[in-house]
Amino acid sequence: MEHLAIIMDGNGRWAKKRHLPRLAGHKAGADALDRTMHYCREAGVKYLTVYAFSTENWKRSEDEVSGLMSLLSQYVKSKEKELVANKVRFRVIGRREDLGAKLNAEIAALEEKTKDGDFTLLVALSYGGRDEIVRAARKAMAAGVKPDELTEEAFSSFMDAPDVPDPDLIVRTSGELRTSNFLLWESAYSEYYFTPVLWPDFDRKEFDKALESFSGRERRMGGRLK
Ligand code: IPE
Ligand code: IPE
Ligand code: MG
Repeated sequence: MEHLAIIMDGNGRWAKKRHLPRLAGHKAGADALDRTMHYCREAGVKYLTVYAFSTENWKRSEDEVSGLMSLLSQYVKSKEKELVANKVRFRVIGRREDLGAKLNAEIAALEEKTKDGDFTLLVALSYGGRDEIVRAARKAMAAGVKPDELTEEAFSSFMDAPDVPDPDLIVRTSGELRTSNFLLWESAYSEYYFTPVLWPDFDRKEFDKALESFSGRERRMGGRLK
């Protein structure tokens, strides 16, 4: 598998079960992400996209939003050495302009410093699938693309990470059976895997189960069975 994408859900419920504040769940979620990157590396996955904050997540309490933003900023500022040492290329997709100038500068610096990595971690921040499609349409119009020139391929080139192959598998934790606006364009032929496990509890066993489920699937992409 080349590209794995994950909807990292269930941090709040994980914290609630332990009578901890929601932010403690998000911190444990960041640790789960670090582990998962190692599993991906070992399994030969080249791209990992994670849904970290949606365009809808701005509706949460001010406390939770600011806690998440400072956690993010801490992550971006403290991970440089580790990511460079592990040859991880860090990239962000989503509405960057929503994140503010300071966090944006930190993100841009980390992207620049990790640009030679051979494994790519794409973090979806202030990301919405519909929003990405609308922004791509705007970019295409601004570039002067004519209606009859706008093929699927041409349109794809205006998405946030046009050089990255579509995800092969999309995992969602915490038992919810929906996409919540994640990678709408890119997931046309992705396989899905849903698990009741909460994101902070996601471990090697769960990772292996997801990959095993994927490897047993026949991806026909609309073609016929041989
Ligand atoms: C996912 O965990 C992380 C974000 C959306 C930021 P949640 O915060 O959605 O956790 P639950 O769904 O409330 O358990
Ligand atoms: C999706 O989870 C977004 C992220 C994991 C970042 P949510 O918890 O926000 O989704 P809903 O509200 O259950 O659909
Ligand atoms: Mg949730």
